[in-house]
Amino acid sequence: MKLNRIVLLSAMLVTALANTTFAQSLRSAYDGAFLIGTALSTNQILEKDPVQAALVAKEFNVLTAENDMKSSLLHPEEDVYKWEIADALYALAEKSKSKVHGHTLIWHSQLSRFFRDKKTKEDMIAAMTKHINTVAGRYAGRTFSWDVVNEAVEGDGSLRKSVFLEVLGEDYLALAFKLAAAADPKAELYYNDYSMTGVEKRNGVIRMVKKIQESGAKIDGIGMQGHWGLESPTIEEIETSILAYAALGVKVSITELDIDVLPNPRNVSGADISQSAQNTAALNPYVNGLPDEIKAAQAKRYKDIFALFLKHKSVISRVTLWGVNDGNSWKNNFPARGRTNYPLLFDRENKPKEAYYSILELRKKK
Ligand code: XIL
Repeated sequence: MKLNRIVLLSAMLVTALANTTFAQSLRSAYDGAFLIGTALSTNQILEKDPVQAALVAKEFNVLTAENDMKSSLLHPEEDVYKWEIADALYALAEKSKSKVHGHTLIWHSQLSRFFRDKKTKEDMIAAMTKHINTVAGRYAGRTFSWDVVNEAVEGDGSLRKSVFLEVLGEDYLALAFKLAAAADPKAELYYNDYSMTGVEKRNGVIRMVKKIQESGAKIDGIGMQGHWGLESPTIEEIETSILAYAALGVKVSITELDIDVLPNPRNVSGADISQSAQNTAALNPYVNGLPDEIKAAQAKRYKDIFALFLKHKSVISRVTLWGVNDGNSWKNNFPARGRTNYPLLFDRENKPKEAYYSILELRKKK
């Protein structure tokens, strides 16, 4: 009898231990360092695939709509708002005790057409005010952070000639941050952009953020989109930029991380979604699977960059992967359409990749 009990108890202990290992996840492993986020497609927000829904709830603690909160989708016409998917995102986040990072309020791309018709300062200010008040206001108190302005700086450091700049001049930047702070005083407010390790671009972003700060507007953070490759940018370049942005007294987040393993078309750099390239066999070499050495190189790359993020965890508040699994990454269609890419931490069957284990490993208690 006694022996049976011991056997039973040890069986229970083994199960409990197995469950603990199973319960290991990115969000728990990185607890105390920084938030771990992901971007969700419409179907993922609506939990169409139960396996992916469970994976998202287990692994990530900050959620972003990959597209559904961009102005052309959320606020397509002056008096038309489509709240359904955004509302579902907030409900999903609250159900899984995750935060929401809103993407994005003011962006020249995926922009509602009506903004382009605003030709006077007065009309543009009214349109921006209404958009930010209504959108950030609706989710006030429930949004952890916002990308208030997305991609306003060019590679050479100059301000992008968007409709906002054309009509309002650079004042539109501080205005956007002031409106967002008024609409949701609790949310952390970010400037977000790609190619943030380029020297000229970095200097331009720093100049711009200083001006926003001098205007008295609140800006809490800078988002570095991490649309990176296996070798570029280098760890040193990434580190220099993290430190340069943090020196402005703001937080830094890595906002759209994916590690592209495919050859880069020559005419494209960064993540300007208006660019495109032809899909050719040479640019799409891994249609039938990723070779082991590339898997290993990607795992090492993820490990190196996460080791860097951990080194600077005092200034990094969030690292968001731009998608859940390789199958639904935008990188299968950018910059060339219809390729087979492998940029994320989970494979097409939602199984954790070597890259996943490599970054989990960094947080193992020694
Ligand atoms: C991308 C989405 O992932 C795609 O689904 C969409 O077709 C185009 O936009 N920088 C950003 C993101 O800030 O919003 C972009 O997302 C990728 C580049």
